[in-house]
Amino acid sequence: MKLTATILSVVAAASLVSAGTFHPHKINPHDTISNGYIIQYDDNVNHAQAQNSLKSHKVDFKVRNQYNVFNGAAVTVKSGHKGEELAKLPGVKNVWPITLYSIPKLQKSNMKSNDPAAASLHTMTGVDIVHKKYKLTGKGVKVGVIDTGIDYKHPSFAVPGAKEGCFARYGKNCRVKYGWDFVGDDYTGEDPKPDSDPRDCGGHGTHVAGILGGGAVDSKTSPKPPQPFVGVAPEVTFGAYRIFGCKGSAGDDVILAAMELAFNDGMDVINMSLGGGSAYKNNPISILGDKLIAHGMALVASAGNAGSDGAWMVSDAGLGDLASSIASFDNIYGIYDSVSYGGAAHPYSPSENYNNRIDLPASATLVPIFEKDGSLSDGCDPNIYKSTDVKGKVVLVFGDLTRCKSGARGVNAKDAGAAGILVQTTPFGLAGLAGNPGFPMGSIENKAGNDMLAAWKKDPKTRLVWSKKPSNFLIEGGGAPSDFSSFGLDGDLRSKPDFAGPGGNILSAFPLAKGGYAILSGTSMSSPYVAGAHALYIQAKKSKPRGDKLRQIFKNTATIASNFGSKTKASAAKQGAGLINVLSAITTKTSIFPDHIDLLDSTHFKKTVKISIKNEGKHTETYTLSHIPADTLNSYPNKNTFPLGTPVIEAAYATVKFSVDKVKIPAGKTAKITLTFKEPKKGDASEFPLYSGYVVATPKTKGGVAVHVPYTGVKGDIAKVPIFDTDSGLPLLLAYDGDDSLEDVTPDYQFNLSSTKLPAILTRLGSHTPEFSIRIFDDKKNFVGYAHSANRGQSFGWLGRDPTYNDDGSLYFNAWIWDGMYTKTMDPSETPVLVSKHGVYNLVVAAQHKLSKGAYPKDFETHEFSNPIVITGQQK
Ligand SMILES: *[C@@H]1O[C@H](CO)[C@@H](O)[C@H](O)[C@H]1NC(C)=O
Ligand SMILES: *[C@@H]1O[C@H](CO)[C@@H](O)[C@H](O)[C@H]1NC(C)=O
Repeated sequence: MKLTATILSVVAAASLVSAGTFHPHKINPHDTISNGYIIQYDDNVNHAQAQNSLKSHKVDFKVRNQYNVFNGAAVTVKSGHKGEELAKLPGVKNVWPITLYSIPKLQKSNMKSNDPAAASLHTMTGVDIVHKKYKLTGKGVKVGVIDTGIDYKHPSFAVPGAKEGCFARYGKNCRVKYGWDFVGDDYTGEDPKPDSDPRDCGGHGTHVAGILGGGAVDSKTSPKPPQPFVGVAPEVTFGAYRIFGCKGSAGDDVILAAMELAFNDGMDVINMSLGGGSAYKNNPISILGDKLIAHGMALVASAGNAGSDGAWMVSDAGLGDLASSIASFDNIYGIYDSVSYGGAAHPYSPSENYNNRIDLPASATLVPIFEKDGSLSDGCDPNIYKSTDVKGKVVLVFGDLTRCKSGARGVNAKDAGAAGILVQTTPFGLAGLAGNPGFPMGSIENKAGNDMLAAWKKDPKTRLVWSKKPSNFLIEGGGAPSDFSSFGLDGDLRSKPDFAGPGGNILSAFPLAKGGYAILSGTSMSSPYVAGAHALYIQAKKSKPRGDKLRQIFKNTATIASNFGSKTKASAAKQGAGLINVLSAITTKTSIFPDHIDLLDSTHFKKTVKISIKNEGKHTETYTLSHIPADTLNSYPNKNTFPLGTPVIEAAYATVKFSVDKVKIPAGKTAKITLTFKEPKKGDASEFPLYSGYVVATPKTKGGVAVHVPYTGVKGDIAKVPIFDTDSGLPLLLAYDGDDSLEDVTPDYQFNLSSTKLPAILTRLGSHTPEFSIRIFDDKKNFVGYAHSANRGQSFGWLGRDPTYNDDGSLYFNAWIWDGMYTKTMDPSETPVLVSKHGVYNLVVAAQHKLSKGAYPKDFETHEFSNPIVITGQQK
């Protein structure tokens, strides 16, 4: 790989955490607020004491917010004290820079819709029956929406019979009863101007609030005009906590304040984006989140939209232990523009960057691009176009993500003179494409691709006819996990995501000023669906179980699904326990716990596991135990050093033996069952196949709800999983000239920090690591300390897996530039200094293997750079 003069994104996005007290977050200077810190006090310290401590140490500060449950404050420091220094002051437990979170990207489909079929999602989840038969609407339950606000005047938020909705501060009988605008319209993270009106000007909050509780169930009393969709809990009471301006980001100082107000307002559930800007588990939002759950609130958060990066990505959503990580399933129906070919109309999804209906002349006929072996090409290599004339035509390629993403595919086709490109997606649902501006690009379903190929073989002159308006399609990924939904597991091999809600192709409310309705996709859409389901459950049971108990009930009763066209079940690393089924959750008389079984890897394999089955019904029940294996995902096929964007599905299954096959449990009693697992026989341990499945207890009583828990494991020794992507030639040492460009160096090139360019290490991680560091050794191989990087600051701590490609198609990597600063320890409060001793040094980049104890170098993957680095004590 050629990296000479690669333009270096000095501020690449990744972040480090360590166990200490100051938690720097040097992702990007634009991602933190200068001189803004969140301080958590020691447990027995109050606001006055902590602030006196700061004052008596000559810290000049202004309080931005104070937090009572969290026990801390957000401050702006005017005296130049740094986070490390604040962390050392008496009474201070943790210090973080204030971090900005962005509004999750909307994957908006261009089309307007008032077709009720688009809201068919409730038939997938039993919510239609819960509405009709049980008349549950979330009435009396309060849900806080921490987002861009709510367009509360929208008729979707009107009480039955009313024409428009309202906000209690300005009206009577309003569904949006609580709320506050913490920031004002113009806020982008820096300078909040709070006011009392949380009306939404962005759109995101209105859409998610609509999913959660818009519309009405009963058409007779429904708001006027009748709404084209019904939310999950259409009579829930809202709290609208607005933390975003019309555009841009929000600081976590404001998010914490919103969470505390939601708690004080008595919200039963809050739904929010905990992930977004952080790879930390130890971040203020997760800490407060777990405290609020312990106080009885429920918290749901999204699993992320990194599905196209392949396995091992979900942990980047960085959730607390008790919260629910929510994956997404596609709605059964979707409203799409279409292309007709050989008599059949196929829905297509235009790329995000083109974002238009495709309209090409009749002369633009289809040209499938083939590899030498006759299979449809992925279009990733521009040379593939050399042998085929595609000028003015529409090329058809396959959307496998192993070698490239849509941006690169688009550029290759365009450069070859094509008029447009259709991408046949893999059988994981209709994929969203980033694409290229100005170049018509659409994704089509897997089956559509096969049908079009067959029609082309019959007659290559067949015309492509592009629709003039969108219509409704039963889509092939309907009722299956969404292509975009992130895969687990997390860095500790925990089974995440937890379960799923509908999040692909969801019709809901949008601000009236922006058209009133929109169909959007994302795990941002599935998590409010689940928040609404919490409200239905709380109303049904007239009680409020703790958030983690609710998670267990929803997981136990979820619907286990298959990918499109597959006879086997989709991996639990993708769907978690499956798609939420609210009817089953409300009617089940059984529970199983724990709600996930983490078998870990072959070395730490949990061969025997105990589960408890509780009969929560009024009669003795007999249960039959069974096992449903799921698809195995090969994370590192062909001994790759980086996971594939599209994991290879393998028919390798674990086996489970039950201590008893049938068990009779009296009402109210619990039975313990011992499970003995065996790893799959098939599947190459050196490729770390990620296997999973479900353990099911089925009651004998007819119509009783079967309950299950997912298990996940990795065949192979996790300590052998490649961490650095050596296939791409990384890590690599280059020379940085201070001008955002990097140059190759010969193996004997000598760096002199007083006179030459600076050393820069490029890394790309194909696996999480509990501890990353860049270590400095002197010429006698003595350990000196840890390099502090000039562009990123603290360079030790845990790191998540890196994404595959950037949006523009380039390979994703990070650069760490060293200018001679170092710390002796990994204590984040140690202030970095220059290596003062004249001499010659070497750098070693090290990453600890997952689940290892962290003995150096035994438990690490290390790469040493032989280039001598001269330090004269007089840095450049
Ligand atoms: C719910 O949470 C998701 C992500 O966790 C977020 O994107 C969405 O905006 C939230 N919705 C509401 C209604 O707060
Ligand atoms: C490093 O650069 C400084 C400043 O140019 C120079 O004085 C010193 O001799 C150089 N050291 C080596 C070993 O090249």
